[in-house]
Amino acid sequence: MKVETKKRIAIFASGAGSNAEKIIEHFKNSLTADVALIVCNNPRAGVIDIAQRKNIPCTIISKKEFLHPDFTDLLHHQEIDLIVLAGFLWKIPDALIQHFPGRIINIHPALLPKFGGKGMYGMAVHHAVIAAKEKYSGITIHFVDEEYDHGNIIFQERVELANDENPESLAAKIRQLEHHWYPKTIEQLIESYE
Ligand code: GRF
Repeated sequence: MKVETKKRIAIFASGAGSNAEKIIEHFKNSLTADVALIVCNNPRAGVIDIAQRKNIPCTIISKKEFLHPDFTDLLHHQEIDLIVLAGFLWKIPDALIQHFPGRIINIHPALLPKFGGKGMYGMAVHHAVIAAKEKYSGITIHFVDEEYDHGNIIFQERVELANDENPESLAAKIRQLEHHWYPKTIEQLIESYE
């Protein structure tokens, strides 16, 4: 009989960590996967407190450490199956992408391919969507490749903008979608693995 082992997720996050928190909670009692590691590049990030509260090992890394081959070794040593970016602002080096083919995903707070690319993060995205008078915005969960916000799309969900929508109200709507769909989409992806 084949023994199923739980898949191991590493979350890379640089900010508040609200998505990381939802993902940790989602997999808390899961038979499918565990959040095994948080990787953070910002010593003041809220996600560090979340990792502590939730008892998840958290590594704070410098740019030099991030780009060093030892970092890839650490992820392999930790037997990481999937890397989940949740508000991680550094570009993922090509070498890391090649070591984890199809195993790095990101969430973007708009409907790619629109409103993506370098500099398109945080409130800048919502300002741009409103300035463009879009009728809809939404979320995109996608594989990470060598270009920002470019890899194959796994999942999108949209939300209609109100007539008086502002960047803050739109950000709140998008956050709700992210919290609802990111954990579920990760679970579905992991269930598709051998
Ligand atoms: C999210 O809006 C996500 O789409 C983007 O970064 C933000 C992270 O927020 N990639 P949080 O740190 O999870 O609260």
